[in-house]
Amino acid sequence: MPCATLRVNGREHTAEAPAGMTLLEFLHDRLQLPGVRAGCEEGTCGACTVLVGGRATRACMITAAACEGKPFTTLKGLARNGGMHPVQQAFLRHASLLCGFCTPGAVLEAVVLIEDETRPLTHRRIRQALGGHVCHCGMHHRIVAAVEKADRRMGRLK
Ligand code: FES
Ligand code: FES
Repeated sequence: MPCATLRVNGREHTAEAPAGMTLLEFLHDRLQLPGVRAGCEEGTCGACTVLVGGRATRACMITAAACEGKPFTTLKGLARNGGMHPVQQAFLRHASLLCGFCTPGAVLEAVVLIEDETRPLTHRRIRQALGGHVCHCGMHHRIVAAVEKADRRMGRLK
């Protein structure tokens, strides 16, 4: 059985990866990483989003083998000095999420958005960037508010 070695949150992990195994299956099923969600598995819900080389990427849409040698970040890897990332803190305080199933993917997408865009982010820009993240609990407006708060906080810290 072929194996893949991926660098996730600063640590190398090696596991069996048959041809065609998706990055999502590798992270979720093989490595059983907390904070990696398997949703639609067809690229539409955003639940499986991880950062690949700093870009928000749907893990169900690429193979594990294609990702060897690239650095990955999952929700767990966002922690700073043992504490939560400002975007995680904002989601906790302002998003009032229910089941939290959509949260890891939305948080990671928001981190990239805030780091890449000029400030301040508008509601429209946030909705556009996170529009592909389905929240079955209907918390989209609260997610937008949380990203706006995080954007302001991170803008002050930079
Ligand atoms: S599980 Fe990958 S986009 Fe839904
Ligand atoms: S809080 Fe339940 S799917 Fe978003």
